[in-house]
Amino acid sequence: MWGGRFASGPAEIMEEINASIGFDKRLAPQDIRGSLAHVAMLGKAGILPAEDVAKIEAGLKTVQSEIDAGTFEFRRELEDIHMSVESRLREIVGPTAGRLHTARSRNDQVATDMRLWVRDTLDALDAQAADLQQAMAELALKHAGTVMPGFTHLQSAQPVTFGHHLLAYVEMLNRDRGRFRDARARLNECPLGAAALAGTSFPIDRHATAASLGFDRPTANSLDSVADRDFALEALSAAAIAAVHLSRFAEEIVVWTSAQFGFVKLSDRFTTGSSIMPQKRNPDAAELVRAKSGRVIGALSGLLIVMKGLPLAYSKDMQEDKEGTFDALQTLSLCLAAMAGMVRDLEPVPDVLKAAAGSGYATATDLADWLVRELGLPFRDAHHVTGRLVGEASSRGIGLEALPLAVMQAEEPRITDAVFAVLGVENSVGSRTSYGGTAPDNVRAQAEGWLKRLASETA
Ligand code: ARG
Repeated sequence: MWGGRFASGPAEIMEEINASIGFDKRLAPQDIRGSLAHVAMLGKAGILPAEDVAKIEAGLKTVQSEIDAGTFEFRRELEDIHMSVESRLREIVGPTAGRLHTARSRNDQVATDMRLWVRDTLDALDAQAADLQQAMAELALKHAGTVMPGFTHLQSAQPVTFGHHLLAYVEMLNRDRGRFRDARARLNECPLGAAALAGTSFPIDRHATAASLGFDRPTANSLDSVADRDFALEALSAAAIAAVHLSRFAEEIVVWTSAQFGFVKLSDRFTTGSSIMPQKRNPDAAELVRAKSGRVIGALSGLLIVMKGLPLAYSKDMQEDKEGTFDALQTLSLCLAAMAGMVRDLEPVPDVLKAAAGSGYATATDLADWLVRELGLPFRDAHHVTGRLVGEASSRGIGLEALPLAVMQAEEPRITDAVFAVLGVENSVGSRTSYGGTAPDNVRAQAEGWLKRLASETA
């Protein structure tokens, strides 16, 4: 492509370190789309004659069909997808192919291709996250009243419902989706026509190419256009946060499916056996979702580090944006799909959950609240009385609800047997009716609200 100034080809190792075709070939559809938009604009602007435009357009479509058919030959000596497409175009349409690169550079070309790819991928991730929300909200509705222990410090804290726990993740996913959309909105400016870095002397119409590629407008500064990878960083940071959310739920699935917890059952479809221990049912998919968050986070830090020392405008360093971005966003897509599958197959075990919800003095706060509400004790005093009663029950090896009334009255004489009503886990969750609280009616209403909202999004 630049034969004019070069007497010999690159060293073997130069070719190896330089080539990106091995991974940027996936940008072929975006590259061809960008070229079609560019050449159409060159024709309309009177920069290329109509017959050249027609030839190039037909040639590009042939290249696309060869790529679709899998007959396109990607060659390392052609370095990257941009040169591979152009070189094949030359074989098909002859020297006219050389006119396609008028008023552009690979620098604005690659920035455009990457934005298109990231944009499509963000849209797909948004839809997948919505599907996971759907699966979770459906399960939440079914288990709006299924009590389970709520934890802080992974110690039994207060009873909650299984549906409430799931809806916490629906909220997280909604913020993730908001971040995908924010990233998409900021990304949606077209760098094509910034050329190498300074713009071009040809009378191009950047507004036309931007519009034909579905961008809101062209980017406003040619240097920034080719030097910017914020769109990838933002997508990766949104992806990293989403991956962390999935990882946290994955961790819970791992813990909950263990024999010691037994809170949920995971289907055979999402479980593996052990080649040596016949009793094992391993939650491999959940473990891998947990682990793969590391790759996504790694891609974000990797690209931040690539970018941080680069002077304006383009540097070849920026070619390193690709593998991490492709891998991380595809990894997140896989994790979202695996998680949606697991959630659809997940079966909570209500008896176990209920028994666990009542253990560990999880209704101690309910007792303290009762003392405040019914006897007018200051909360701190109620906390103290309750603490002593928990100590008493614990030394007898029994639950709070099994403590004789006389023992309670020895601590606080005004306690009556009405107190036992709040010591049951069902009563406990039922009383948490504050907005956002775990009362089954609340949870049911929230789950229904989400399902309605998700249905109206797709309508
Ligand atoms: N393969 C290159 C990349 O991904 C395309 C841009 C090359 N530009 C250049 N001036 N060498 O960044």
